[in-house]
Amino acid sequence: MRAVVYDRYGPPEVLRLEEVARPVPAEDEVLVRVHATTVNRFDTATREANRRSGLAISFLSRLVSGLRRPRRRILGTEFAGEVEGAGAAVTGFAVGDQVFGTTGLKFGAHAEYLSIPVSARIAQMPAGMSFEEAAPICDGALNALTCLKQVDLRKGRRILIYGASGAIGTAGVQLARSFGADITAVCNTKNLELVRSLGADRVIDYTEEDFTRNGETYDVILDAVGKLSFRRSRGSLEPGGIFLPTDGLGNLIWALRTSRTRGKKVLFQIPPRQTKQDVLFLKGLIEAGKYRPVIDRRYPLEDVVEATRYVETEQKTGNVVLTVST
Ligand SMILES: NC(=O)c1ccc[n+]([C@@H]2O[C@H](COP(=O)([O-])OP(=O)(O)OC[C@H]3O[C@@H](n4cnc5c(N)ncnc54)[C@H](OP(=O)(O)O)[C@@H]3O)[C@@H](O)[C@H]2O)c1
Repeated sequence: MRAVVYDRYGPPEVLRLEEVARPVPAEDEVLVRVHATTVNRFDTATREANRRSGLAISFLSRLVSGLRRPRRRILGTEFAGEVEGAGAAVTGFAVGDQVFGTTGLKFGAHAEYLSIPVSARIAQMPAGMSFEEAAPICDGALNALTCLKQVDLRKGRRILIYGASGAIGTAGVQLARSFGADITAVCNTKNLELVRSLGADRVIDYTEEDFTRNGETYDVILDAVGKLSFRRSRGSLEPGGIFLPTDGLGNLIWALRTSRTRGKKVLFQIPPRQTKQDVLFLKGLIEAGKYRPVIDRRYPLEDVVEATRYVETEQKTGNVVLTVST
């Protein structure tokens, strides 16, 4: 089968298409013919061993994905495709089923086929969705859900979502809407209308206004893009308010420090606990018309380097899809 492989950490150009052996599903696994996948920030960070985040994080990243070279040659976590084979012990899935999900740390989705245990984060595709629409369901939304599940978000609670135009941000706005919260979203001028259409009650253009100086306060602040700090935003939190980061090792220290005191807190779950139940929850939201992943650009699998370069601008709106033709 064709797959995008890499044998050393480095820039997008380390990625190349290669013929590799098709995976053989184990007893409890299905073989999925991948029709669409994505390039996300987890792929790009892993490919460069998190070099941009500094030496300590880069070392930790290599401990997980291979000290000298990547242990897994094929990146890609999100997928949508068709079940083409199943191990003897598989129940609940059959050949021909249209499925979506995420392989997480196992990667392997930038390929024509992948195998995945049926107990993992895989589910039947919501009706009426194309493979390209279904591929980006999980990454941003599972990360947003992991954060939001830590707080009691409901009608009457005020949340500010910073970086509302990224994969996590666009999903975060829709999830917060479904929980009934009052949402203020912060993004760039070009994305104001989109973010409003996703369910934000109010939008702030960060090129025009600094939300930390307008006197408004919130029960929860979600930094969906890793560009804020607790120090900078805590003045905008209500007493007892909660700051939810998605990035930055320093936030672990804040989480520890604030866990021992009364008052405003930082909650940062590392590693994020994401389950099959969460994937089924997202499927339910989609079927209820409450969540739809935002797609920015689509590229064919062979243009993975170009797609990756775009993701690395850190300016994508929502998600970048790779289509895989077999
Ligand atoms: N995706 C993952 O698997 C994953 C997992 C865990 C953690 N994270 C971390 O979570 C963060 C977000 O991930 P993501 O995939 O959602 O990111 P993303 O989609 O790449 O975010 C890009 C968006 O962020 C906006 N943005 C960039 N700089 C901004 C700023 N200073 N203020 C406000 N908005 C800004 C961009 O819009 P404009 O530049 O046009 O404003 C763009 O729409 C990253 O730090 C990532 O490392 C990601």
